[in-house]
Parts: sequence; C-alpha cells; structure tokens
Amino acid sequence: MHPPLVELHLHIEGTLEPELIFDLAARNKVTLPYADLADLKSRYAFTDLQSFLNLYYANMAVLLTEQDFTDLTRAYLRRASAAGVRHAEIFVDPQAHTVRGVPLAACINGVAAALRTSESDFGLSSALIVTFLRDRPAAEAFDMLTELVAMNAPIVGIGLDSAEVGHPPVDFIEVFDLAHAHGLKCVAHAGEEGPPEYVWQAVQLLEVSRVDHGIRSLEDPLLVDYLVQHNIPLTVCPLSNVRLRVVDTLADHPLPAMLERGLTVTINSDDPAYFGGYIDDNFTAITDAFALSADQLATLATNAIHAAFITDARRAELL
Ligand code: ADE
Ligand code: ZN
Repeated sequence: MHPPLVELHLHIEGTLEPELIFDLAARNKVTLPYADLADLKSRYAFTDLQSFLNLYYANMAVLLTEQDFTDLTRAYLRRASAAGVRHAEIFVDPQAHTVRGVPLAACINGVAAALRTSESDFGLSSALIVTFLRDRPAAEAFDMLTELVAMNAPIVGIGLDSAEVGHPPVDFIEVFDLAHAHGLKCVAHAGEEGPPEYVWQAVQLLEVSRVDHGIRSLEDPLLVDYLVQHNIPLTVCPLSNVRLRVVDTLADHPLPAMLERGLTVTINSDDPAYFGGYIDDNFTAITDAFALSADQLATLATNAIHAAFITDARRAELL
C-alpha cells in the first residue's frame, strides 16, 4: 500500500457531475440547453482546452446560492474520501461566478462551509486556493484579491487557470506580488497547452511554489534542470491531458520521462466530472499504462504530501 492520497489540483467546479447539474437546475429553476442527461453527456468529447472550458463555464449556470457551492463541495469530499484522499487543496474560480451576478461571498463562503468540517464529516483535511482566470483582465484579478483579503477569506493561496495560450503569466505579476505580500501561497497552471516559456515565467516572475500541469517543461532541458534543482513540484493530471488532447493516448504521456528526469511529480484529477475519473482512477490508469512499481507509486503519493500546503505536524501524520 502506498501512503494516503493527497489531491493538489482539483477545480471544484470540475466536480460538477451531470446528475448534479440537472438536480441544481431543477432546484434553481434554471433552464438547461440539453434535452436530457444523455444529451449533456454526449457533449463531453473535447478537442482541446477551450472546447472543454466552453462546457465547464456554461454548466456553472446552475450554481447560484451559497448552498449550491456547499452541496457541490460536500459531494466532492464524499467521493474523495471514498477514494482514500486524506488531504485536498481545492481550486475555485470566483470570477466565473461573479461575472454571472453571483456574489463573491456566496461562492467563497459556500465552498468554505463544506471545507471547514471536511475532517469531521469525511476524514480529510482541506484548504482553499482561489484561481484567477488568465483570459480576463489582470486588474479584475487584482481587485478581487484585494476584496478577498479585506473580507479575510479563508484561503491558503492563489492560482492562475483558464485558456493558457496567449495569456502568459507575466501579465499577472502585480496580482502575485500582492498575494506574496499577504503571505499567500502561489501556484499557476503553466505548460499544459502553453510553451515552456510560460513555466519559466510562472516560477521566475510569479515565484510560484508549484506548477499545475507543467508537462511541456520536458521540451526545455534547462527548465527541467531548474525545476529539479529547486524542487518545484508539478501537479500532473494524466486523464485530463488525454481528454484535452494534450497527449494522444495515456501511453504517450510523459509521466515516465518526468520521473526519470527526477521531477517532483504528483498525480491529480483536475476536473474529474469531465475527464472520466477521480484521483484513484488516475492512479489506476497510470499503473495500468506504465506498469508502475510499488516504489514509483509510493514516490508519487509521498511527493504530494511533501508538496502540500500543510503544517509539518500534519505532514508527519500523513507520511
Ligand atoms: N480550469 C479548469 N480546468 C482547467 C485546466 N485543465 N486548464 C486550465 N484551466 C482550467
Ligand atoms: Zn487545472
């Protein structure tokens, strides 16, 4: 048995299962543009990141109240607990909700309410990371971070996500400077669809302590050396990479090469309701695809414990 699972790259809106979309639509009297569940499910064949993001944002129309965000988060925690997850760091995309007129507080407080009791309800510790949408203005992210700090939001850090190509990390230096000034942890999606240059920017200009995805780093040997030397973890999401066509098949995934090069790789689920599986499914898939040894699986699980934003005492419990 490998050590307990720790999830470090999970968008809470990406856990919105088709059935819950229909339940929340009924509760909130939202008319969905789908004939039925089968019709919705037929739309999960993605060609790239943007084709997924279009459906991901459209389905958020059913998330309106604080209770909706709490119910969504509880459903994830229940599923994660069943998968053997003992600590989860959860991304939320508040701008995707405030642009629709949902108050920032409803979104943050709704998710936070579920996380507050994750230990007693589901046996896992948790933390919240607000991710900013890189395809929206950096000034909007800056203002929202200012508001989050003013409301003393229970967040451990910030991240950067959404459409990557054409939206480099350099555009968000002021936002990340503000986060660092407030003692927040910093992460960013980079090197998913975007080039190695974006990973360089994330680590050197935004000074992130983890890179989300980062699989295109392998194209730049000097970048790989830098990530290894500075022990910067990459939160890799294998099933996501296949479903978003970042790689052709799981067999083509660079995970074995990343391990070979000594990168600190962790395995995560990204948007499990959309990509065919939760963290346990990702582990099963890579174990089958690459015949990973017990030692390699233990390394992947232990990497996540070391990369987590937790106290040394909690780390010792998990190791
Ligand atoms: N938002 C949710 N999932 C994402 C992903 N895989 N890449 C970028 N932004 C996202
Ligand atoms: Zn992601």
